[in-house]
Amino acid sequence: MRFRFVRSAVALMLAATALHVLAQDFPNRAITMVMPYAAGGPGDTITRVFAGAMQKHLGQQIVVDNTAGASGSIGTAKVARARPDGYTLLMIHVSHATNVAMYKGLPYHPVDDFEPIGRATSGPMVIVTRNDFSARNLNEFVAYVKANGPKVSLAHAGVGSASHLCGLMMMNALNVKLNEIPYKGTGPALNDLMGGQVDILCDQTSGTVPSVKGGKIKAYASAGKARLPQLPEVPAITEAGVEGFDINISFGLYAPKGTPKPVLDQLTSALQKSVTDPEVRQRLEGMGISAVSVDQARPEALRNHLKNEIDTLGGLLIKAGVKPN
Ligand code: MLT
Repeated sequence: MRFRFVRSAVALMLAATALHVLAQDFPNRAITMVMPYAAGGPGDTITRVFAGAMQKHLGQQIVVDNTAGASGSIGTAKVARARPDGYTLLMIHVSHATNVAMYKGLPYHPVDDFEPIGRATSGPMVIVTRNDFSARNLNEFVAYVKANGPKVSLAHAGVGSASHLCGLMMMNALNVKLNEIPYKGTGPALNDLMGGQVDILCDQTSGTVPSVKGGKIKAYASAGKARLPQLPEVPAITEAGVEGFDINISFGLYAPKGTPKPVLDQLTSALQKSVTDPEVRQRLEGMGISAVSVDQARPEALRNHLKNEIDTLGGLLIKAGVKPN
């Protein structure tokens, strides 16, 4: 018994030493940043902005890995299982909070199995449709959706995703049930919207503003109380008397539980340099997205934000009648 205890203590000490030695020359090879939604979507766009900025500060390439599916939980589980050495990171948003309420057999816990590095962005959402949608303005859009409910298809990126939460708010606010079409990300959803295969999408501006400005899709309303500076001609949904919309999507960066503190500190420092980088701020602002402050790009700010979302959004989904898988 005593021998086994000594043996496991030695093993633990060796493992801790190995990780500490690893931390001393981190990073000495490319880093993988997992984005658990499909390429071409708003999350992918934001991830690539930060991968490009952070690799400059870390001195090693950051490769974006789109492991999509099951509302982001497949890619997230991949990071939870990864070696805690700082070479596998997760960039994720609200679904890190909602999945714990939506999937009974989730193979990880969003708080216990991850180390927060810091918040990266926050940004609004916009309601868009295929280009030949008949409504001539927001009031006609609201009337059409209310009158045609289940005949209207609503694309989203899976239960608990940002686009799903916004779609839920729309259905609750208009007291209507739409025909939900889930995708592995709103990148593929946007392709179908542009092709006319699906009617409506509520998406983050980092995925939609370029397509609206390019005349490929129509924007009817910003999903909140204020108009978007990038789309000043598009009304806020509240201008049609529609209440209950107050959604803002924030992305944050995580590492697997057990990643050595010196490694986490280096990653937080690179993230903080990126959120203050004028080029990063300008690129994001062009898409209607805000980089957070240096204070928000810290582990405790992300930890608090995640716990708040877990406490508030899981219940919203259950109240909206969403059945956990
Ligand atoms: C979502 O939550 O809708 C996702 O962020 C969409 C995406 O990034 O593809």
